[in-house]
Amino acid sequence: MFDIRLTDVPGTSTRVVPVGPELDDEMSALVTATEGAGARGRITVFPRPLRSPARVLLAGIGDGAEADWRAAGAAAIRETADDEDLEIHLPAGTTAEAVRGLAEGLWLGGYRYRDAPRQPRTREVRIHGTPHAESLTRARVAARAAWLARDLTNTPSSVKNPEWLAGQVVAEAATRPGLTVTVRAGAELARFGGLLAVGGGSVSPPRFVEMSWNPPGATTHVVLVGKGITFDTGGISIKPRDGMKLMKKDMGGAAAVIAATLGAADLNLPVRVTTLTPLAENAVSGSAFRPGDVITHYDGSTSENTNSDAEGRIVLADALGYSADVLHPDLVINLATLTGANSVALGKRTAALFSPDDALAAALATAGAEAGEQMWRLPLSDDYLENLRSDIADRVSAPGGPGSVMAALFLRDFFGDVRWAHLDMSAPSWAEEHDLELTKGATGWGARTLLNYLSALDGGQQAGA
Ligand code: BES
Ligand code: MN
Ligand code: ZN
Repeated sequence: MFDIRLTDVPGTSTRVVPVGPELDDEMSALVTATEGAGARGRITVFPRPLRSPARVLLAGIGDGAEADWRAAGAAAIRETADDEDLEIHLPAGTTAEAVRGLAEGLWLGGYRYRDAPRQPRTREVRIHGTPHAESLTRARVAARAAWLARDLTNTPSSVKNPEWLAGQVVAEAATRPGLTVTVRAGAELARFGGLLAVGGGSVSPPRFVEMSWNPPGATTHVVLVGKGITFDTGGISIKPRDGMKLMKKDMGGAAAVIAATLGAADLNLPVRVTTLTPLAENAVSGSAFRPGDVITHYDGSTSENTNSDAEGRIVLADALGYSADVLHPDLVINLATLTGANSVALGKRTAALFSPDDALAAALATAGAEAGEQMWRLPLSDDYLENLRSDIADRVSAPGGPGSVMAALFLRDFFGDVRWAHLDMSAPSWAEEHDLELTKGATGWGARTLLNYLSALDGGQQAGA
């Protein structure tokens, strides 16, 4: 990540002035002459040839809410060159939320893939005129989490097999005190029948990664589960070529829960978090699992595989079963790029939220709104429940009916007697084009929402509030 610093030392690099409802005196004449300059995320450029700084940018902050400041920061960083340093001059009285939004926007909009040929390595951003150092720290942790989730998800699947992804978690956790990681492989996966079935077709065998953040005094125990399919061909029920093109992103749920947990450690949050990621490649080969196969999950129940492209729910079922059997948490939140139907129902920016728990659903939606990550609650309706019936197993894996709802109903059985929510984030996990804080490619969707959610827990019983 490039550096953002709070400073009082005047500099000579490109100057950025946020403009909104309360105009900076010095700039008000310019702004009045520049209609619309204060619109959210609008950048107005004033070149100053042969003078220093060589140009001044006005960055519109719209109504001045945190999201507006995030938009202004993202727009400013995108308007400038990769190696251009910025001096941002804040109006007096800029709030802590504004500084947090601004810094997050700068970092999120300035994201580059870590193995990209060009990186903003040398860039420096200096923010003048604010005492809100704590806001910068929080923004740094949130943005770093999003950057990691994006980096992992953007990594090609030729590199990103389950072993590699598990190694990334181990390496990241090793840089933070208080985190422990267990990676299970081979014979240790004997009870994980779904993970073995889905991963069985690949030359890169599956892994089950468990990361734990357990600070002294924590009372609430949250389990985060993330789908970690490192590539989804669809298996024997193979995907058509267009549908397969982006399937390196099918571990976006795992990336988000991992990044959020690392962020919880960075912020030293007083809540216990255990993060479970079943990692497998859904490949096509002679050893791949077949339509009609019956799978025995961690909890001992069975699923008849009716479409090997419904692999996510099969590996998640084992992780959820493990959570219920071994961890006994207070609540479980699952994130998964689970169904194409997510975007059919809700479009490309909005995740589908499922939970029987109104308070938990509301708390997650609030955390998402603060992060600028939208979700919309869909019903766990029983209308098509009978479609889950199998003649030879406890259920089928790919029942007919509304896709995202049926996947959620499939998962419901495995959470156990615990408060739970499931977020199907297939659609918002990827951006086709740059748009403010969303950079083209992986978005890191969920990492910042989860971090907000975990931050709002006070370590006590307030899990839904
Ligand atoms: N990984 C896909 C879902 C997906 C599709 C994510 C598009 C992101 C973009 C998932 O494993 C899948 O293939 N789901 C099937 C389920 C069906 C076979 C019941 C789907 O949505 O078509
Ligand atoms: Mn699939
Ligand atoms: Zn998938």
